[in-house]
Amino acid sequence: MELSAADQAVVRALWRKMGTNLSIYVTEALERTFLAFPSTKTYFPHWNLSSGSAQVKAHGQKVADALTLAVDQLHDLPGALSALSDLHARKLGIDPANFQLLGHCLLVTLARHYPGDFSPAVHVSLDKFLNLVTSALASKYH
Ligand code: HEM
Repeated sequence: MELSAADQAVVRALWRKMGTNLSIYVTEALERTFLAFPSTKTYFPHWNLSSGSAQVKAHGQKVADALTLAVDQLHDLPGALSALSDLHARKLGIDPANFQLLGHCLLVTLARHYPGDFSPAVHVSLDKFLNLVTSALASKYH
């Protein structure tokens, strides 16, 4: 599944609109993931995962930066996320099914913050982007 020129334009426009708020939304999406899918918490055994945790906030910033890098390199997502795929697969041993859970929670979080922007077309473009990020992150698993 490729991102069409129209999908790319939608993703880039949303990223411009979010600006520096992105890390706030990613942090919220992480908190939602931990609450909605508690099994994801097992990967962070020594963290404070309660709402407003500074650790989750710092991590939200890192994940947001990685997503922005992906948006800047939509033509080569596997290349852009190659080192992160290595990290999650080989060092952290994250089951790749978890990427979809975070992607889903990110979609829900963004829909809540931008209800007026979230037409079905925007929904689909963003979903495609998040699925491509998930596949790129999962690419070092085999
Ligand atoms: C869109 C999906 C994701 C992206 C873009 C992403 C990105 C990142 C980034 C940028 C880091 C920091 C790397 C560094 O410090 O060099 C990281 C670390 C980590 N990620 Fe992910 N991640 C994603 C999904 C997940 C999921 C779903 C889980 C588990 C449920 C997970 C578990 C971890 C863990 C355990 C660390 C190490 C944290 C630490 O000890 O500092 N990641 N991830």
